[in-house]
Amino acid sequence: MCQERSSAKRMNNCNREGVCCGGMQMVCLTDFEEYAKEHLSKATWDYYAAGADECCTRDDNLLAYKRIRLRPRILRDVSVSDTRTTVQGTEISFPVGIAPTAFHCLAWHEGEVATARATEVLNTCYITSTYSTCSVEEIVAAAPNGYRWFQLYVYRDRKLSEQMVHRVEALGYKALVLTVDVPYTGKRRNDIRNQFKLPPHLKVKNFDGVFQETAGPEEYGIPANTLDPSISWKDVYWLQSITRLPIIIKGILTKEDAELAVEHGVQGIIVSNHGGRQLDGGPASIDALPEIVDTVQGRVEVYVDGGIRTGSDVLKALALGAKCVFIGRPAVWGLAYKGEEGVRDVLQILNDEFRLSMALSGCRNVAEINRNLIQFSKL
Ligand code: FNR
Repeated sequence: MCQERSSAKRMNNCNREGVCCGGMQMVCLTDFEEYAKEHLSKATWDYYAAGADECCTRDDNLLAYKRIRLRPRILRDVSVSDTRTTVQGTEISFPVGIAPTAFHCLAWHEGEVATARATEVLNTCYITSTYSTCSVEEIVAAAPNGYRWFQLYVYRDRKLSEQMVHRVEALGYKALVLTVDVPYTGKRRNDIRNQFKLPPHLKVKNFDGVFQETAGPEEYGIPANTLDPSISWKDVYWLQSITRLPIIIKGILTKEDAELAVEHGVQGIIVSNHGGRQLDGGPASIDALPEIVDTVQGRVEVYVDGGIRTGSDVLKALALGAKCVFIGRPAVWGLAYKGEEGVRDVLQILNDEFRLSMALSGCRNVAEINRNLIQFSKL
């Protein structure tokens, strides 16, 4: 919960900072979470909220940020501030992008098309999930000038992955994000209890017509056992052989794997535990970030996702060496609230909070954010 929220403030005082919805003031990202929880069906809410097993890692993703303390600098003329940065050589308006999350049409009827429009307007990076409920063609048509990367899984049938790569390359996607933490899907208890299934009117649109209608077991919209658990480092070379796009590996949590990623010639790393939905008991992603940044030594860009809910979380991640952060669930809450407008609101609030945290800690631009901002004696 956002500490300073009170219901009186929510109901009566809508003309101050924040976004107003019929008397309800949306001040921070947890307001969107509450709205989504109230308005989505239980099965959909449970699917988005899910962590693996006991959800220790999912919850620690948030708690870990709260353990970090900042060392603010003062009297540094912060009358002008600049939140712009670059990722893979492209300028974005602030260092927060959208992580790949599946099934946006469950939250809002326009689904990923709305997300794409919001990120185009706010000029930041949108990583489109393979498991989108709009096709990549629809997404690009809706926001032709948006800056996008495509998230890829490796399937037993390599041709399926290969066709997706060529499709998104032709559509102007700027990088491939290879998710490596799902050799098998994590055990998400509520999804099992709810027997989670996509409703019949929704599909994994990118695979429309690819799989035959079978009575066989299905997992999250596609036939079970489609993902290839034998995926290994040699598949990075295979991917490089079929694309000219930069490859970013998502799901690294150790310095050993970060070193291997660099040795295999990837262009970026997303430090991530999949929002705590895969291995329960692994580290909070922000806790894994420093060893990876130290190992990589600037040879490739390092990003982080998982548990980012405030502007000061963004500041802490950048201070610990992330070039940019990505948000997963908060974007979906924004969709559930008001589609494109809701995602814009979520991003704008995070941008405003980040700008304020920067100024209050004496940073005028992202280049001034560094490890001196972190109080290591408290960690
Ligand atoms: C995800 N995530 C994910 N990752 C991925 O590579 N491909 C995918 O299709 C999905 N789908 C997905 C669905 C849902 C509902 C969630 C919550 C997450 C993981 C996602 O990219 C990201 O790592 C986390 O969501 C980040 O954590 P936060 O911001 O949700 O705390």
